[in-house]
Amino acid sequence: MFASRLITSSRYKTASVRLHQHTRPVLQRHPNPTLRTMSSSGANDAAAALEARNQHEASIKRNPHPDFKAVEASRPDWEESSTWHYTKTRSPDWQWGQGGNDGGESLAKKHVEIDPYEPGRPAVFNYKLMISAIVPRPIGFLSTMAADGTSSNLAPFSYTSMVCHDPPIFAIGITGGIATAKDTLANIASSKECVINIISEHFIEAANSTSVNAPYGVSEWGLSGLHQAPSSVIKPPRVQEAVFAAECKLYELKEFESKANPGKKSGTLVLLEGVKFWVREDAINEEKNQIDPAILRPISRLGGITYGRTTEVFEILRPDFSAVGKAPNAEELLEKASNP
Ligand SMILES: Cc1cc2nc3c(=O)[nH]c(=O)nc-3n(C[C@H](O)[C@H](O)[C@H](O)COP(=O)(O)O)c2cc1C
Repeated sequence: MFASRLITSSRYKTASVRLHQHTRPVLQRHPNPTLRTMSSSGANDAAAALEARNQHEASIKRNPHPDFKAVEASRPDWEESSTWHYTKTRSPDWQWGQGGNDGGESLAKKHVEIDPYEPGRPAVFNYKLMISAIVPRPIGFLSTMAADGTSSNLAPFSYTSMVCHDPPIFAIGITGGIATAKDTLANIASSKECVINIISEHFIEAANSTSVNAPYGVSEWGLSGLHQAPSSVIKPPRVQEAVFAAECKLYELKEFESKANPGKKSGTLVLLEGVKFWVREDAINEEKNQIDPAILRPISRLGGITYGRTTEVFEILRPDFSAVGKAPNAEELLEKASNP
């Protein structure tokens, strides 16, 4: 029944397709010029790319629980009372030269050396390792549209960071190359536009739902129940529920070649320039230069299928070198520092 539901967008022109019919009509609209012009072989290529992505997804074995819902039910409820609050840092009396604050405990532990391409190690192991190590990651929630406006897309990407503020440049990593692009990448490559929304606690489930492996042309907007708000200088809409959104124009695309499968593109770096910012009125200060984190309530991505809230925080001053000279052991410290 679900498979034959008609998906339409309310305020914007989006794909209107029957899910059970997706393969042919959807692929004909694909914004990737290679896939669009190759008619039936293009359709086959795109279907093969989707199938390959589905197989890759299955190989990740993301869900660590045989019965996820049972495990979830056994856990405490979401703690609504847990809100943004400050604590001291772990060791407020830390002194220059002290090193760690664990009394040397971490120094007693051994490390394991891992060659990312050691024989028998699948590349997906590096994916799992890296997403559990490079944490927490902000989640860029990308709204894109096909260049001809026929199809809109929404999906989360945690390979997200800002890399420059003048101009405002954001970096997004998307698995796969342009020839076999995920819908988001295909749209960005063709339209050169996208909105980066930041995910907050109040729409995490809906945001996660948009990572569904929907075929091209099926709009995750309708599936998620999230709302579109008009952008100012680009076509793709913003997520109205988002506290922060940046309208962006494509700055540069850089594909990476796989080492595990030479000759194949395994990922694409998308550099985007922010050309307009949107911040919810109750979250921005008068100077329009700071967002209230207690209102943003950002969600971060950790390893596996784990997400994090940021509620317990602390502040530490940015150090000034003049403070080193005032330390009781300044001479010894500076001597050590001059012989690294
Ligand atoms: C929290 C989260 C973070 C994700 N981060 C990335 C990412 O950084 N890069 C990527 O290629 N896929 C990432 N994904 C998977 C994509 O969201 C997923 O493949 C999605 O179906 C892509 O949609 P599209 O084909 O409509 O572009 C992430 C999924 C989730 C749930």
